Amino acid sequence: MTERASFVLNREDIPAAQSIMLKLATLGYSERLVGNRLGLKDLTDLQWRASPVYRSERLSNRDPLALAIDLFLLQGSLPGNELGQLFSQSECETFRRCGLLEVDDTGRTRARASLFPAGTRLIFSDHAWPALPHPGYPTAPHDHVMSVGRDSRNLLNCVPRRKFSSALDLCTGSGIHALLATRHTQHVLAVDINPRAAQCTRFNTQISGAANLEVVVGDLFDPIGNGRFDLITANPPFVPSPLNNLTFRDGGPSGEDVQKRIVAGLPHHLAPGGIAQIVTELGERDREPLTHRLREWLNGAPMDIYMLRLGEHSALKYAIGHSKGDDYQDVLDSTLEWSRNLQSQGYVRMVSLLISFQWSDVRCGSPWSRIDQSPPPHRTAGAEIDAAFLSERSTRIGGWPDILHRSSLRLAGPIALLDAHVAGRDLRAKTTATLLGQALTIKHQLDHVEREILNQVEEKGHIPAIDLLKIFHERAVHLPSVLEATRTLLRYNLVRIDGCEVSAQ
Ligand SMILES: C[S@@+](CC[C@H](N)C(=O)[O-])C[C@H]1O[C@@H](n2cnc3c(N)ncnc32)[C@H](O)[C@@H]1O
Repeated sequence: MTERASFVLNREDIPAAQSIMLKLATLGYSERLVGNRLGLKDLTDLQWRASPVYRSERLSNRDPLALAIDLFLLQGSLPGNELGQLFSQSECETFRRCGLLEVDDTGRTRARASLFPAGTRLIFSDHAWPALPHPGYPTAPHDHVMSVGRDSRNLLNCVPRRKFSSALDLCTGSGIHALLATRHTQHVLAVDINPRAAQCTRFNTQISGAANLEVVVGDLFDPIGNGRFDLITANPPFVPSPLNNLTFRDGGPSGEDVQKRIVAGLPHHLAPGGIAQIVTELGERDREPLTHRLREWLNGAPMDIYMLRLGEHSALKYAIGHSKGDDYQDVLDSTLEWSRNLQSQGYVRMVSLLISFQWSDVRCGSPWSRIDQSPPPHRTAGAEIDAAFLSERSTRIGGWPDILHRSSLRLAGPIALLDAHVAGRDLRAKTTATLLGQALTIKHQLDHVEREILNQVEEKGHIPAIDLLKIFHERAVHLPSVLEATRTLLRYNLVRIDGCEVSAQ
């Protein structure tokens, strides 16, 4: 088995290591080009079982990019002549001194860490498949530094990439979210309880040249005293596990041990006007809205909550996905153990979520919670999440109907309308509306007043709200239903109004 990287970088090696990273980037080792080369829209879809297929179908032309992908993503080994095509002698020596390469008994070279191209950064972590040729988490050491996976990917696509003065990345692991935040934040603090993860984040920081990232080892908010941050991100361990043996994965039998402490800490550490985002999974019980739990953990703190449901699995499918074993009976026993744990928590399904928190604006009434459903975004959706907070506030602010009276309505952009049709029947079917060109695909079922408002706005292009209200008055539609329908269209960002803007506190 390949020895794991130590993630210790000698000061003297930093400039040479940085120029090797630059060389890799110049070769095309970027998220887009590596994805294109492997034929993957999303690099987190990479499967170890498919590595021979990628090699024969995608990497048979052994150019330097193919060699780098094989070495750093597919966990392959390169013979001396291929290594020589990728790196010069002195580059090999630098990466060996950095503990990133090792030569095996047969003279082939392997990487001791994976290198994941994420957004604008290249991120080292432990290998995605820790124990080839028998990969899988049961064999991962307790201090394993997680590679960039789907959840990391979902979080990094949902962070608003606007200017912040301070950011805190909890459960930082390889430091991916902290490193991406350094591009748009003055000072970033990364915290992990696993000293090896903190060391990996430091390594990634040095090798990337980011000067505004500080890394500390500690338990969540413990190391930061009373500090408040404009941006807080976390991809915590959240798996409801009967084993509870992996620091990077398990959140106790309920899955909530770490995440509930993060949510409870937000009121003490989120700065006014800031945003906190957690990517997680929560077990869903029948007849218990997920937001109840979040409100309980917030302990009455006046925060607005915007949840995106990114996917879900039945409890049984989840148990099957996590079951492991060396033989048939072991796997069956393991499935039963996972399933019983989920049952004991009352979970009927596991939901993947991206949860964003902001302080409530007192002008907008009580703190609100909103849940939308969308497939995971494949590009940055942070601005859309900011817009969802803004549109909720715009329509909750005291006296907003008066503002509406003085405003005009227009379509927010191109909207796809999907009308269901019941063959052979004269049944009125509902229409689903989606604003096109967005990173998030949020579908809203229109009621007939909402549908008619959209028709009017589409026909006229730009319509003073007062004219719209007159049209509905003439059709004897009650004013409250017109106001409510307009509000819903604004909340779903299907129409925009000029003259009603609320900024965050
Ligand atoms: C799911 S991994 C996320 C890694 C990385 N942020 C990402 O998105 O790829 C969770 C991380 O949380 C860390 N962790 C677990 N419990 C913690 C705690 N109480 N305080 C700080 N970090 C913790 C683990 O060591 C692990 O690195």
